[in-house]
Amino acid sequence: MKFLVLHGPNLNLLGRREPQIYGSSTLAAVDRRIREHARLRGVRVECRQSNVEGQHIDWLQAAEGQGFDGVVFNPGAFTHYSIALRDAVAAIGVPVVEVHLSNIHAREPWRHQSVIAGVARGQVLGFGPVSYLLGLDALIAVERAPRPRPSRR
Ligand code: DQA
Repeated sequence: MKFLVLHGPNLNLLGRREPQIYGSSTLAAVDRRIREHARLRGVRVECRQSNVEGQHIDWLQAAEGQGFDGVVFNPGAFTHYSIALRDAVAAIGVPVVEVHLSNIHAREPWRHQSVIAGVARGQVLGFGPVSYLLGLDALIAVERAPRPRPSRR
């Protein structure tokens, strides 16, 4: 099993960006933790970051063709307004789990809305870097769960 982790805009600044909200771990450290977690779970993972909306659209569209079984996606501020990313998530066949470091519902009112949530397989938020690990675990559990067989009638 192979999973894609996508980090949205400004997450390249982790560690020095508002550490009281996002913590002191750098993106490189978060990615190391994700890779180690994946190794322990016996799955493969690839982590990517971009500040560019269209880049995320291209990555999402290509995910299935590149053999990914699911995507752990932190869309950053795009979460709150990018209909183009919502449409990309809705269009693809692989499950996408939306994750956030912070609890967006405990912050400014305009952060409470996610335009991605309605088309994501689920959401994990508020646990710092652990949100990514839980998102990965959720995708693994969904992939490993026996699929319901179509009824014979
Ligand atoms: C974030 C929350 C967003 O509101 C914010 O714009 C981010 C990070 C998080 O991980 O908590 O860039 O996605």
